[in-house]
Amino acid sequence: MPNAPTVKTWTLNRRNALKLSVGAAAGVVVPARWLYPRQAGHAAESPPFSRPLPIPRVLAPTSSTPAGDVYQMTIAPATARILPGLDTPVLAFNGQFPGPTIKARTGRPVRVRVTNKMSSPSSVHLHGADVAPSSDGHPVDLIQPGESKTYHYPNRQPAATLWYHDHAHHIEAEQVYRGLAGLYLIGDEESDALRLPGGAYDIPLFIRDAEFDEQGRMLFTLDGFATRTTVLVNGAQQPYLPVRRRKYRLRLINAANSRPIRLVLSDGGELVRIASDGGLLERPVRATQVELWPAERAEVIVDFSTRPTGGTVILENIFNGPETPNRQLLQFQVTDPAPDNSRIPETLRTHPAFGDPVVTRTINLGRDPTNSFYAINGLPFDPNRIDFQIKRGTTELWVVNNTDGQFGFPHSIHIHQVQFRVLDRNGQAVGPEEAYPKDTVRIPAGQTVRLLVRFESPFTGVYPYHCHFLDHAAAHMMAQLEIVP
Ligand code: C2O
Ligand code: CU
Ligand code: CU
Repeated sequence: MPNAPTVKTWTLNRRNALKLSVGAAAGVVVPARWLYPRQAGHAAESPPFSRPLPIPRVLAPTSSTPAGDVYQMTIAPATARILPGLDTPVLAFNGQFPGPTIKARTGRPVRVRVTNKMSSPSSVHLHGADVAPSSDGHPVDLIQPGESKTYHYPNRQPAATLWYHDHAHHIEAEQVYRGLAGLYLIGDEESDALRLPGGAYDIPLFIRDAEFDEQGRMLFTLDGFATRTTVLVNGAQQPYLPVRRRKYRLRLINAANSRPIRLVLSDGGELVRIASDGGLLERPVRATQVELWPAERAEVIVDFSTRPTGGTVILENIFNGPETPNRQLLQFQVTDPAPDNSRIPETLRTHPAFGDPVVTRTINLGRDPTNSFYAINGLPFDPNRIDFQIKRGTTELWVVNNTDGQFGFPHSIHIHQVQFRVLDRNGQAVGPEEAYPKDTVRIPAGQTVRLLVRFESPFTGVYPYHCHFLDHAAAHMMAQLEIVP
């Protein structure tokens, strides 16, 4: 298997084993209702909307040739100013929290050389990308401390909002939580021609939660989602963004380990959805709410020309209703009118047809009652086991069940390498905003989701699929498929 991950073994060290047992214990006591009952940690909170929204810096290539762009990134411990007057220790790509943004173009290859200066291994995965297995950031294809690895990203896919994050087996949950994640935006001519809002009017909102102590340190326990009640946008708590009176394109990324969010504007205004995980929808979908579970993305257009100069609009998370802790995430401060020749086109992109499925598979996501690990089809992740072998070029029907109805645990499924179609949830067709192109789909407790998955990439080899509650993935809710010619 020339394309198999280069490292095939992993042994639990004592530190990881300890964390897993802590997580497993926590898994038992999680309340049956999916709620965030406790108020935020003890750290001093900034007065709301007193800090401008940071925009992650765009990384400059170290070389650009007709063959593509080359980037260098270093992973190392760093500090970030997240809370007022406090330095928070983080793990960072190039010292930035979140990491720098890479801007790529369809058809133009990118190579990223990553050097690991941490004391733990890493693996860097480009979420949503179609890449060879050797560049996929498989959980056991590790960059050891002091070592480097070059990832090749062919960018064969259309424009999309992707993100990169750590994927080192068992420790990805903690390492992503501590900061190892950033944006990777692919652009293409087809989407440029649509004249969507661009440049300074195209804003990423990288949303995640955390728990802080009084010194501003981030606290992490596996499955400790209930106390991660501080929500950060681009690494800041309750920032503000001055906006001019015109249309904006907002790229929404749920980068939390375990927190689902449902976003609304405080004035009830419209969020026009134009793109999902893997890029543009067929047509814009007008909505007033956008629900995103961990790793899901949405792009929306918001028209601030309808708001008065001097007014404010707040982006809110109402996932747990009006009493959701830290409901107010970001304040838009409306300034002066600005020229706007951007549009919201009637049609955005024609999607490819999928063939009929040749195989039907059943995937059960559920906690294993015998050891309280999270499991897929009753099995914990084993990097030496191939769970499904798939013929390249075929379409499959995946029936994914969340079997944790009695515990109330939410799950999701993320499949590396593909953008799939979501057919239905509990037999009900999903809306067009969730139908395609998707790489991660939510599966509330006890529900069943059916997916049409087409393995169209030329690459063969081994790729993971897993729940994208990263705390669950770290506690074994992961499996792997092998694409064969
Ligand atoms: Cu976002 Cu396997 O990952
Ligand atoms: Cu992924
Ligand atoms: Cu899960």
